[in-house]
Amino acid sequence: MATSQQLPSFPSMAVLLFSFGIVSLMPDFAAAITRHYTFNIMYHNVTRLCHTRTILSVNGQFPGPRLVAREGDRVIVKVTNQVSNNVTIHWHGVRQLTSGWADGPAYITQCPIQTGQSYKYNFTITGQRGTLLWHAHISWLRSSLYGPIIILPKRNESYPFEKPHKEIPIIFGEWFNVDPEAVIKQALQTGAGPNVSDAYTINGLPGPLYNCSSKDTYRLKVKPGKTYLLRLINAALNDELFFSIANHTVTVVEADAVYVKPFDTDKLLITPGQTTNVLLRTKPYFPNATFFMEARPYFTGIGAFDNSTTAAFLQYKHSSNHSSSTELPLFRPSLPPINATGFVANFTSKFRSLNSVKYPANVPQTVDRKFYFTVGLGTNPCPKNTTCQGPTNGTKFAASVNNVSFVLPATAILQAYFFGQNNGVYTTDFPVNPPVTFNYTGTPPNNTNVSNGTRAVVLGFNTSVELVMQDTSILGAESHPLHLHGFNFFVVGQGFGNYDPNNDPKNFNLVDPVERNTAGVPAGGWIALRFFADNPGVWFMHCHLDVHTSWGLRMAWLVLDGPQPNQKLPPPPSDLPMC
Ligand code: C2O
Repeated sequence: MATSQQLPSFPSMAVLLFSFGIVSLMPDFAAAITRHYTFNIMYHNVTRLCHTRTILSVNGQFPGPRLVAREGDRVIVKVTNQVSNNVTIHWHGVRQLTSGWADGPAYITQCPIQTGQSYKYNFTITGQRGTLLWHAHISWLRSSLYGPIIILPKRNESYPFEKPHKEIPIIFGEWFNVDPEAVIKQALQTGAGPNVSDAYTINGLPGPLYNCSSKDTYRLKVKPGKTYLLRLINAALNDELFFSIANHTVTVVEADAVYVKPFDTDKLLITPGQTTNVLLRTKPYFPNATFFMEARPYFTGIGAFDNSTTAAFLQYKHSSNHSSSTELPLFRPSLPPINATGFVANFTSKFRSLNSVKYPANVPQTVDRKFYFTVGLGTNPCPKNTTCQGPTNGTKFAASVNNVSFVLPATAILQAYFFGQNNGVYTTDFPVNPPVTFNYTGTPPNNTNVSNGTRAVVLGFNTSVELVMQDTSILGAESHPLHLHGFNFFVVGQGFGNYDPNNDPKNFNLVDPVERNTAGVPAGGWIALRFFADNPGVWFMHCHLDVHTSWGLRMAWLVLDGPQPNQKLPPPPSDLPMC
């Protein structure tokens, strides 16, 4: 449905066009439309690995439906909750410029949608094109509530790379034979690490390397001599994944809905929350073989993890019509070792912004405010008269940013802020630097306890921010894919060991650093980000490994209104859910 009501009336548009002579704006105005979606959260029975579970789904689909829009379009998704859980949906990576009410993290920008209730998420896609994902943003419900967001270029605009023959979403997930809600509930009670998943999935299917699963294999059927755009999405709960296709190299062209300088690779890393578009050029002739596409985890922690491999088939269609692919030889890819931190550092450093005239990299060259955050694990003491199974006797696992383990409030922070009712909901004293200085990546301190609180950082509108995030070795150095809501950031630097504020900035890339919404803090290292705080609202930032988020590795930025009307957070929509 076209939003004719949003266009200026004809006389005013004519005045605009004549007075500025920008007739070329007209197609842009005319092309943007509003796209309506209905997402009914409902129960759905799914069998994988011979285990049938009732999962939460959108419209009875697993993985969930694709949300497709063009850059510039408005999207309205009416989400109706038909299950007993409280639900929210997050449009991961969508900038949500002045539409923070539609962002979706529970108790940050909204109270959850309760059983029988609906909420209309209403946002415009501005300045983004590529692949993102949507997912539930409360507890661990995103284990089954996830799906692709596909942002096509504006009408009459093309990709800055060859036009693909076909575009195919490849979405990675994590399957549990038991209810993941029970898993995280039990873990938070006992303080132990949660039980791990039973399989990874490709487009919802674990593939032939698991027991009782060979029929649940995704098959990507291709023709020889064509270019396919694979939209890779990691929607797994707790695991960064390596991915490779046997005997094929792909060209990376986009990450987190931003074009990058193309580069070739035969192995990728994709963290939860990241998306990567790659071009797959198929072999010129029918190869007389079938190729495995496989994903398995990159893991640097000390606890248990799901050490299994999901696989799908890359299957060539024979030009003549005999298709007995089962008799063809099978090739499997080789993936990096489980803890291949060197590969990961090398791979992530290959990503560069396209930084063309059309798609410039608007990297902040000067910095108004600098932040240094430690990220990592820690402990909370075991409550009196209970027994805990945390990392040491009498403790529970926790995680923190600058030693603050973030506690979700009982109401939404954005609402409390907008109505000036922050008292008792949150404070604005989030530490700018680590409260205690220690050798972050050396021998950990004896006291590993975190502090608990709901603390935010307040930023003036359009502040230029530099944020260095430093992994700690408390309970093991570990990679943390950090996700920032409401913004893309530029990754201007990364390194191992402790960040050196005197020497490391000399090596920052302020020309063409990659721009994304989720980036890994290297295990035992640091990452330096820059962004302009040009979006008023309350913006969640957290590790996208859900177990770390649940343990408190999360915080909130509060960005104030700017002076112009289009730089202010509007009042909440009338159907904003109540707590
Ligand atoms: Cu994809 Cu706050 O999450």
